[in-house]
Amino acid sequence: MSHEILKALGLIGEQSGTYLGNGEWSKTTNAGTLQPVNPATGEVIGTVHASSASDYETIVKRAQEAFKVWRTTPAPQRGEAVRLCGEALRKHKDALGSLVALEMGKIKPEGDGEVQEMIDIADFAVGQSRMLYGYTMHSERPGHRMYEQYQSLGLVGIISAFNFPVAVWAWNAMLAAICGDICIWKPSPKTPLSAIATIKICNEALKAGGFPNLFFLFNDAGTDLSQAFVDDKRIPLISFTGSTKVGRQVGERVAHRMGRSLLELGGNNAIIVDESADLKLAIPAIVFGAVGTAGQRCTTTRRLFVHESILGDVTDTLIAAYKQVEGKIGDPTLATTLMGPLNSKDAVTAYLAAVEKAKASGGTVRTGGAALTDRKGNFVLPTIVTGLKNSDEVVQTETFAPILYVMSFKTLDEAIELQNSVPQGLSSSIFTQNLKSAEQYLSAAGSDCGIANVNIGTSGAEIGGAFGGEKETGGGRESGSDAWKVYMRRQTNTINYSNSLPLAQGIKFDL
Ligand code: UN1
Repeated sequence: MSHEILKALGLIGEQSGTYLGNGEWSKTTNAGTLQPVNPATGEVIGTVHASSASDYETIVKRAQEAFKVWRTTPAPQRGEAVRLCGEALRKHKDALGSLVALEMGKIKPEGDGEVQEMIDIADFAVGQSRMLYGYTMHSERPGHRMYEQYQSLGLVGIISAFNFPVAVWAWNAMLAAICGDICIWKPSPKTPLSAIATIKICNEALKAGGFPNLFFLFNDAGTDLSQAFVDDKRIPLISFTGSTKVGRQVGERVAHRMGRSLLELGGNNAIIVDESADLKLAIPAIVFGAVGTAGQRCTTTRRLFVHESILGDVTDTLIAAYKQVEGKIGDPTLATTLMGPLNSKDAVTAYLAAVEKAKASGGTVRTGGAALTDRKGNFVLPTIVTGLKNSDEVVQTETFAPILYVMSFKTLDEAIELQNSVPQGLSSSIFTQNLKSAEQYLSAAGSDCGIANVNIGTSGAEIGGAFGGEKETGGGRESGSDAWKVYMRRQTNTINYSNSLPLAQGIKFDL
């Protein structure tokens, strides 16, 4: 199976992890290797040669050259380049979706869904390429005109995580490309093959269309190159997706050199289910949110607040649904599977540690709570824990695994307060049929998260909205709405078409 998936994308044999532009992949073989592992079997899928310091220098120099041309290419023509990438991704959706499933461990429909997100953001970016709007203002001075314009920023560094090995790159890269920027991508060391395949697909499409090098790639066997990347003054924007711990370091280092960072860090997302909620909607949303991608989305539902009057019913219904999922845990590339493995052995260890900590804090494991030791791979059971307080350390912490902490509340005020009382602020939802409750939840005194939903779950955002969160989630926004602005520099222009030089604020300065 793995052979067929790799073959369909031309990835048989050892691979270079460095795309140098001009159709050229680096021949470096002495900078270490990455060996991505199939999380469902523990088998090594392939060998990827990491990049050297000199490869990195070549990339930055070529990216700088490409930028000089690209920034003066009309934005709608830049949109045409992205359109070709979207078309190429459409053609390879099945194969690339399978590779994502194989290498990351998410189920095939989610792997395909991730490629669909890439196609969607490409389509979005094509339209956006004709809408890089700035405001015009009325000057306070006679004979003056004011407006603002958005200019290309330069090189954009993208550091992506294993859990969305291709889509998050595309959210950044497709918009950056129409903004006139050149992207340099450092993917997760756990999913280099998905990145290589993506870069091949997009760059072949660009080459066939006669476009320059827009997308470069390097892989780091250690952390030296990645740190140099973050500290590199030639790269005005670093977009980082990953843990809050690493993101804090990235944010500090980029700020130190007065660069711009876009941070997409941890979430600790909650769903509130009030006494009026339609459980036909709420239950599947909770199960998909908590168990989907084996709990490895930054938008995964980790906390559930249920009105005390329905706590028992909701918990029992969820446990029954979890038992059904248990029967469909397995090879993520098979159509019948609902839940794949965790991505790594370390993730299994973190899952087991969280379960132990939950128990030690007085929680009760109502279902799940164990790794599946009867098979190869990093499989665990989806888990529901009751009896903990929101303030318990394990509940306050994002564990990247399918563990749901179920708690109760009496009033909506209390539920909102509990939901917001965590360090993270990414995604949130309420299930209610009460209009007043929904509006209160979305009001200034409601959810404090970057994403707040009514009657849908916390995960699975569409690309059209701005994606990101507050507090320790990092504050960045990518994908839809006006997220394109972060990839451009903003300039205010005042033009005097009169024959005098009046100063602003009425200041007189007569010589
Ligand atoms: C992530 O987990 O890093 O909203 C991104 C979602 C997906 C993206 C998640 N569209 O769950």
